[in-house]
Amino acid sequence: MSDLVIETAQLERSFGDVRAVRGVDLRVRAGEIYGFLGPNGAGKSTVVKMLITLLRPTGGSATVLGHDVVTEADRIRLRIGAALQDASLDEKQSGREILQMQGALYGLTPSETDQRIQELSSLVEYEAIDRWIGTYSGGMRRRLDLAASLMHNPDLLFLDEPTTGLDPTSRAMVWEEVRSLNEQFGTTIFLTTQYLEEADELADRVGIINGGLIVGEGTPDDLKRAIGADVIQVQVDDAEAAFAALEALPVVERVERGPRALLVSVTDGAAAVSPVVVALDAAGVSVGELTLRTPTLDDVFLELTGDRIEVSA
Ligand SMILES: Nc1ncnc2c1ncn2[C@@H]1O[C@H](COP(=O)(O)OP(=O)(O)OP(=O)(O)O)[C@@H](O)[C@H]1O
Ligand SMILES: [Mg+2]
Repeated sequence: MSDLVIETAQLERSFGDVRAVRGVDLRVRAGEIYGFLGPNGAGKSTVVKMLITLLRPTGGSATVLGHDVVTEADRIRLRIGAALQDASLDEKQSGREILQMQGALYGLTPSETDQRIQELSSLVEYEAIDRWIGTYSGGMRRRLDLAASLMHNPDLLFLDEPTTGLDPTSRAMVWEEVRSLNEQFGTTIFLTTQYLEEADELADRVGIINGGLIVGEGTPDDLKRAIGADVIQVQVDDAEAAFAALEALPVVERVERGPRALLVSVTDGAAAVSPVVVALDAAGVSVGELTLRTPTLDDVFLELTGDRIEVSA
């Protein structure tokens, strides 16, 4: 098998007239954490469901761990783990019962299952393991669901928005677990997220999906570099005049209108601040707050899609 664990070619999925995924090419290598970043409705979950063989593509092709998602679905299912966005854990079951059921599903003996539950101690809260899921907090459910997806030691793990709706502490715990799985066992992780910060924090490479199409891909640093080394964020009273004045400046690579300020991409921020201020002054534009920062993935997203990512918890 090649070292590509996920490979898709013009993968598509339509639901009637809705073209949810419109020709996606992905190449995910063994051992990497791949972040699949996009806003609500971008097509992230639809791609995940095709890769884990829950949904058939309506066009293109995909292989996972060297097997075709349509003709060899069974071969794939045994070797992957998935914690889905809409995981519906049975409220009336205890944490232990869920893990035991998952163990049985993958052919583990009861003693192997018990041992595995011990090994997953960082995700399983023992004082709560015999309680009904109905009494668990959102963070506890997510971690239990993650533990369930890991019962059979999968080589490849799919996490669909693992931290959406979690508080910062629970989010940090999930991040820690994802990193440690990847570092200790070399598990390849395909993770979808709406959080730029999360992709930046965890992913070796990021693919940005919007409207069913991949609009950018690279390491977080590559993506940030692609839009210029630094961003000067400046509040002005007259955006039109400022725009014209700045676009004409040689030190300026690009000017975008952000929600509250103009975002000016430049190669050398420190050197560019003064010419930017002088040019705005000469154009009769009055400058409010001005900050210099390195670009974030949010800037990349704006650049690629013309839109800020709208995060809904
Ligand atoms: N079963 C379905 N029937 C009809 N339309 C669907 C179905 N599943 C998804 N869609 C549509 O496909 C598009 C992509 O949905 P998808 O769930 O893949 O987005 P997403 O990126 O996971 O979004 P979110 O961040 O909100 O989870 C949306 O327009 C959605 O309404
Ligand atoms: Mg989704």
